[in-house]
Amino acid sequence: MTRLPRHIAIIMDGNGRWARKRLLNRVKGHERGAETVRTVVRTCREVGVSFLTLYAFSTENWERPQAEVAALMTLLKRFLVGETEELLENNIRLNAIGQVDRLPGDVRETLAKVMSVTARNTAMTLNLALSYGGRTEIVEMARKIAQQAKAGAIDPEAVSQDLVARHLYTWDMPDPDLLIRTSGEMRISNFLLWQIAYAEIFITPTLWPDFNRDELLDIFRWYQGRERRFGKVTQPE
Ligand code: FPP
Repeated sequence: MTRLPRHIAIIMDGNGRWARKRLLNRVKGHERGAETVRTVVRTCREVGVSFLTLYAFSTENWERPQAEVAALMTLLKRFLVGETEELLENNIRLNAIGQVDRLPGDVRETLAKVMSVTARNTAMTLNLALSYGGRTEIVEMARKIAQQAKAGAIDPEAVSQDLVARHLYTWDMPDPDLLIRTSGEMRISNFLLWQIAYAEIFITPTLWPDFNRDELLDIFRWYQGRERRFGKVTQPE
């Protein structure tokens, strides 16, 4: 495929509704959602996407019932352990963004291990947003820059868009070209607030556990037809 998005970000929504429709526990929806994660990672790697960022757990998700939070953490750990081999075989680097130190110790350790063994992989970065919040990310960036300014290491006049971007969790990645949200909600939900300034947005009514390879490929085709102007007008040839 040509003219592919280099970086795709996905808000994986609708696991709970998928389960409710089937009179199942919400956790079953998350389990099926983890299967969709596998399919989407494979498809992105296959077509040649360089960065895939998945909103796996938000700072707000800590407020969910304790049993659901625990189940999500267990699923995450299982995913990390279960996928390590495939990540290595496919030259995929695992990265995490968010307040990772808030995760339970065993999940944090597993995450650090998988990040470390895949650190030199170059074909694709699978970037998991974990305990992630866009406003928190911006606050942390502001704090880091303010501290450097206070220490005299940078001049406030030198604060630029580039400097800001280099102090976000995504400092080593291009901005997302395409943002996908499943399950129909027209919201950003505190995801990558700075980075999505010029992203094309695709919202599908499909619930995350039902999202599949064919639909993702259709969205890539839709993206290929978009004219990205970044606020400018198109020059006649
Ligand atoms: C939103 O559905 C989804 C989440 C809060 C968690 C996403 C987690 C996974 C897809 C599985 C684990 C992740 C990995 C990386 C293996 P929701 O519960 O908000 O659905 P609802 O809006 O229908 O209630």
